[in-house]
Amino acid sequence: PLLSPAPPLPALYTSFGFSIYAFLAALYLVPALGPTFKGANLKGRDLLKIYSDPIPESLGLACASIYVLLLILFIPFPFSNLVANLSSAKPQEPEGLTATASLHHELAMYLSSLLSLLMATMLGFLDDVFDIRWRHKLPIPIIASIPLLMVYYAEGGNTHVVVPLPLRSIFGVLVNLGPLYYVYMSLLSTFTTNSINILAGINGSEVSQALIIALSVILNDLLYLPWPIDFRIPLHLLGSQAEVEVGGVLHAGMSYGSKELVGRHLFSLYFMLPLVGVCLGFMYHNWYPARAFPGDTLCYVTGMAFSVVGIQAHFSKTLLLFFLPQIFNFLLSCPQLFGLVPCPRHRVPRFDPDTNLLHPSKTLFIKPPSNLTTLVLRTLSTLRLTELTIHATTGNVLEATNLTILNFFLLRLGPMNEKRLVQTLMCTQVAGSVLAFIVRYGLAGLVYDG
Ligand code: UD1
Ligand code: MG
Repeated sequence: PLLSPAPPLPALYTSFGFSIYAFLAALYLVPALGPTFKGANLKGRDLLKIYSDPIPESLGLACASIYVLLLILFIPFPFSNLVANLSSAKPQEPEGLTATASLHHELAMYLSSLLSLLMATMLGFLDDVFDIRWRHKLPIPIIASIPLLMVYYAEGGNTHVVVPLPLRSIFGVLVNLGPLYYVYMSLLSTFTTNSINILAGINGSEVSQALIIALSVILNDLLYLPWPIDFRIPLHLLGSQAEVEVGGVLHAGMSYGSKELVGRHLFSLYFMLPLVGVCLGFMYHNWYPARAFPGDTLCYVTGMAFSVVGIQAHFSKTLLLFFLPQIFNFLLSCPQLFGLVPCPRHRVPRFDPDTNLLHPSKTLFIKPPSNLTTLVLRTLSTLRLTELTIHATTGNVLEATNLTILNFFLLRLGPMNEKRLVQTLMCTQVAGSVLAFIVRYGLAGLVYDG
């Protein structure tokens, strides 16, 4: 009874078929294009190996090309159904008008998403070729997200957030964040693109993060589809209004299983399924010992794909929950990113060729650190997030381990080899997603009335 009649799903099966094709294309093209990339000087040394023969780099460009081309080829499938609706309704009749508006809106959503993905591909590839400086590359994803935000705005985008129960006496049930909500959404794309890029440097790390996040998004989307058998979580457990926003329980006509909600999550699936395909295909070649590197292109494109679905399908807060390891790594990195602690070009763990094990890498202080830096480092060291080398007589900090989650694992769990480290990272990512589902669907009921 919760469900409206099942919407047509054939496009979903097509999308699944396209993902298999994406997987096969990546599996075949990545090694086939390796020599071409090397010939174009797109290559890098694997920093954590004894051998120094160059490995082709930026093969994320091949993945991004497969991904974007398949998404373009896919356009006719979900839209032909809308066009069929359109031709059955006469344009001067009200249904005819809504059908046209809906077709145009969905196309605008899809095309603006493609535009953002292409911008991310371009930026990532330029970064691979020219090593763009931080201050230059940070604003670009913000600009790249403007088409998405415009489409969000055009559909009367909701900028209200539902206030958790304990705070309702102060703020009321809904708070309108207005333009601030748009600022938040544009920063989201900067975060998703860069946070994957700075959790990198060991074989398989970039692509496995993208793969696990994409699978988590897919699982979340599947919860919203009208299944023939109703095995789903009861509506009240979905903490509905948290993400259904002003829809859900608060506004009629947008309940769980509504055509609109199903449509949004189908949209997300169309973008996530082929992403899983390319990531799996690429991962085969990037797995330890890597025969191809993703480059910044893969980090940017996958990050942008997550922002796109989070914004267009209105689940940006749930999406951020799938980024828990990246949020931790970003917060831990802040002192190095913002210049308080010296940031070497590579912060990857240190490789010991004799034992084949990785150890935490260190950053050196050439001159004594400022009082603020010392305070920050000592606090982090008390929290066991870094290890310091202190000068015996002056008490100055001489060295600190680089502030990354990978070094943190090595500090807490002891030295391990590269494969074990990437497996640890993947387990953490999976654990983060499990926690995200618990917070989203379990605990949300405590702070929101379901
Ligand atoms: C980011 C990190 C940097 C890290 C680098 C590794 C920050 C601020 N920047 O920089 O600390 O060292 O990623 O990707 O955190 N490489 C490997 N093995 C791999 C993948 C990459 O050795 O599995 C090396 C290769 O030499 C490759 C290079 O890393 O050429 C790519 O680095 P790049 O993506 O250009 O570094 P950034 O993204 O700028
Ligand atoms: Mg990189």
